[in-house]
Amino acid sequence: MPPSGITDAAAKGVKLERYASGGALLLRRAASGKLVSASSHLLFRATVLATLALVFLFTLHYPSLLSRSFHLSSSASTSTSLASSSAQHSHRSLLMSSSPSTSAAGTYSGAKWEEQIRRSARPARDGGISVLVTGAAGFVGTHCSLALKARGDGVLGLDNFNAYYDPALKRARQALLASRGVLILDADINDALLLAKLFDVAAFTHVLHLAAQAGVRYAMEAPQTYVASNVAGLVSVFEAAAKHADPQPAIVWASSSSVYGLNTDAPFSEDHRTDRPASLYAATKKAGEAIAHAYNHIYGLSLTGLRFFTVYGPWGRPDMAYFSFASAIVAGEPITLFADARRDFTFIDDVVRGCLGALDTAGRSTGSARTGKKTGPAPLRVYNLGNTSPVPVTRMVAILEKLLGKKANKRVVTMPSNGDVPFTHANVSHAAHDFGYRPTTSLEAGLRHFVDWFVDYYKLDVKIATANAKPTDNKTAKKKKKMSASS
Ligand SMILES: NC(=O)c1ccc[n+]([C@@H]2O[C@H](COP(=O)([O-])OP(=O)(O)OC[C@H]3O[C@@H](n4cnc5c(N)ncnc54)[C@H](O)[C@@H]3O)[C@@H](O)[C@H]2O)c1
Ligand SMILES: *[C@@H]1O[C@H](CO)[C@@H](O)[C@H](O)[C@H]1NC(C)=O
Ligand SMILES: *[C@@H]1O[C@H](CO)[C@@H](O)[C@H](O)[C@H]1NC(C)=O
Repeated sequence: MPPSGITDAAAKGVKLERYASGGALLLRRAASGKLVSASSHLLFRATVLATLALVFLFTLHYPSLLSRSFHLSSSASTSTSLASSSAQHSHRSLLMSSSPSTSAAGTYSGAKWEEQIRRSARPARDGGISVLVTGAAGFVGTHCSLALKARGDGVLGLDNFNAYYDPALKRARQALLASRGVLILDADINDALLLAKLFDVAAFTHVLHLAAQAGVRYAMEAPQTYVASNVAGLVSVFEAAAKHADPQPAIVWASSSSVYGLNTDAPFSEDHRTDRPASLYAATKKAGEAIAHAYNHIYGLSLTGLRFFTVYGPWGRPDMAYFSFASAIVAGEPITLFADARRDFTFIDDVVRGCLGALDTAGRSTGSARTGKKTGPAPLRVYNLGNTSPVPVTRMVAILEKLLGKKANKRVVTMPSNGDVPFTHANVSHAAHDFGYRPTTSLEAGLRHFVDWFVDYYKLDVKIATANAKPTDNKTAKKKKKMSASS
């Protein structure tokens, strides 16, 4: 791995640091003037050294040092939706760099690199598709990439490995994908130069755009990261697909059930109101749907938005309630849940089937009217991908308690109006009709899969209860190892 070093970013008072547990390099903004002046003293020597080091490193290794644009002030924070583990609530901020002009495109180059890209993106079966998966080191991106690769499609991943939650988990997912022959580039979706280059190197038939700043309540702490990834980043991906790909790929991207906001008509159907978002996160996803409409209209891009409903499962997100609750129960820490909250929890395998179904039925992009290639309107679609049966969050906790053989230390409060909505419930009849989407996993069965993975991944000394058994002796459910995630 590349060692820490100072790049030309030092000129902007920015220092590269190694993130201890993740092994990832992070740009940390110099907080004090002292560091800035120290940096400028060292600037000349550092620049010379860094240039030499970078030339050396970049010939060895592709990961970008320049697109790393996040700031981590603490790794011990959990910002969950529906809940918060009240212990150890330290503030964490995560800001996009103000230097979008840096690109990994120069970093990523050479015949060898291009061949790695093509190899990862090349389908292994006749009629296989070639998919650029953004957010591939994320929860949903990892599972979709594995499923596509397993059926013989070509997959190239892209992810910026930001520290919104434990980057070590993202790196572990990257290693899993690497073992199956899927490469994940370390880059930001706002890197227009790199995206253009990728479309040049590989002829992607599809883009599965999942990269985003997720989480409802973190939007109050770091609003600009939502704008940067979910609005600017979305435009960057659509621009590249519209203007730098020939032929244009079909795009399937992740919207969210949160667009239903304060909607109370249940179950939520695609034609229900989505103009009352309850969080900035929801507002950026709603903006994304409007942006998708414009790119479909102007450039003839085939665009499919998927409104996911509370996706959970193995390799999941530590910031989400089911995951942070499991961590807190094992650690014996208190959890806070919102009374009367209900969620349409949807198991990851069901969502993956929905994503692949959406890709397979996407229809072609038709090109823009401007270039005279327009052959008719390109598809513009939106689908709910939920489980169709909302479950009280208290019930979700009861299932976790049973599986982990240990009672949670619960604090039940009324839901504050800071982003979460009281319930979600999907009507999936459109997805069922158009690509046979049928969720089949109960919350009991799905959480069992999650807990199996959770206990194994964190090497916990927990004997998992069988579905119908009583909770095991809760004194045996001791934590063996301090978890780095979601403590
Ligand atoms: N999991 C859910 O319940 C849920 C529900 C509704 C919508 N969604 C949406 O589905 C998508 C996938 O969600 P997930 O649960 O896998 O989240 P995730 O955070 O695990 O995955 C997103 C990935 O995108 C990467 N990323 C973020 N900003 C980026 C940027 N600017 N450039 C490159 N990479 C970037 C992150 O590092 C992360 O690995 C997201 O768009 C999310 O908003 C998820
Ligand atoms: C679900 O949506 C379909 C299509 O919009 C609609 O015909 C059906 O009545 C809805 N189901 C419910 C229970 O609302
Ligand atoms: C163990 O479980 C019992 C009953 O399920 C409960 O009353 C008790 O508080 C639990 N003890 C601990 C330490 O969690």
